[in-house]
Order: sequence, then structure tokens, then C-alpha cells
Amino acid sequence: MHKDIQSVLFTEEQIKNRVKEMGSRISADFKNLDPIFVGILKGSFIFMSDLMRAVDMDCTVDFMGVSSYGRGSVTTGAVKITKDLNESIENRSIILIEDILDSGVTLNYLVNCLEVRKPASISIAALLNKPARREKSVKPDYIGFDVPDAFVVGYGLDYAERYRNLPYIGVLKPLIYAD
Ligand code: IMP
Ligand code: MG
Repeated sequence: MHKDIQSVLFTEEQIKNRVKEMGSRISADFKNLDPIFVGILKGSFIFMSDLMRAVDMDCTVDFMGVSSYGRGSVTTGAVKITKDLNESIENRSIILIEDILDSGVTLNYLVNCLEVRKPASISIAALLNKPARREKSVKPDYIGFDVPDAFVVGYGLDYAERYRNLPYIGVLKPLIYAD
């Protein structure tokens, strides 16, 4: 285990099994709908790549870049789109892919922003859900795991751009982000 990690919440094996289950459900729900998977950069990139390979249907992929955190561990409340979609989403079924649903500020903002472009539907798949910290109402359709109110990293999730490459999800030692 990495020296900055306090405890492992989900092992590589547990994540793999859960992502497979999510993929099966999404395949059943979107069969013949040719959905677009929209990954929210950067945190979703590992989850997205595993989830894509766990679905059995025709689909396309696109990415959006948003920033709301800077280097810190607490949201600033402001969302900025740093990269927009390349594809048109008009009349398409959208599946937004997020690493973690925390305050809900990011997804609430994105859903409102994308609805204006008249997609057929917008669904949300988040690997992790931290319900204790919700400020904005967001209804996720697919959730991998609920997590406690702690700062977690690994499997794409970062603190100050570090730890994304850990194959498991763990709680970061608080002394790492205390100043
Ligand atoms: P929200 O807008 O507060 O829901 O935050 C969503 C974004 O904040 C996620 O996509 C993550 O990038 C980041 N985030 C929130 N909680 C954590 C955490 O515990 N670890 C790492 N990133 C987090
Ligand atoms: Mg982040």
C-alpha cells in the first residue's frame, strides 16, 4: 500500500466486479439506443475505460473537461468548462461518467448546461457517491459504491493530481492535505 494511504476502501478485485455489474445493467438499459458515454475529465478516465469494455452494445465516446477544485480538497463552488464535447448530442442518449459525486455542484451544473442542447436523455453513472456532502440535488442512475465523508484517491481520483494511478481506492491520510 502507498505510504500516504490510511486505509483501502475498495480493492482492485472489488472494483472490477462492481464495474462489470454496472456495465451489464447499462447494456440492458441502453440496448439499441446507441448512447454517448461522456467522461468528465480527468477523474473518470480509468473508470470510463473499464466501464466501456464492460458494456455490450454500440455506443460512442466523448469527453468534457471541468474544473472546480484547483489543487485543494474542498470545492470552490465554481464550475468552469475547460473542454467541451466534440459531438452533437441532439436526440442522443447521454451517459455522464463521473469518478465521484460529492457536493453535486459539478453534475448539477453539467446536466443543466447539456439539457439546453436537446439530448434524448441524460443519465449519470458515478463510480463513487459521498451522500453526506450533497449540496445540490443530483439523481444518479448508476452508483458503484457509497463512500464515507473522507477524501479518497486512486483508480483515477486525485489529490493535487497525484495518486490517480493507484489500482485501488483508498482514504488519503489527512496530514497530506492539512496545511
Ligand atoms: P462535486 O462537484 O462536489 O460533486 O465534486 C465532484 C468532483 O470533485 C469529482 O469529480 C472529483 O474530481 C472531486 N472530488 C470530490 N470528492 C473527492 C474525493 O474524495 N477525492 C478526490 N476527488 C474528489
Ligand atoms: Mg479531481
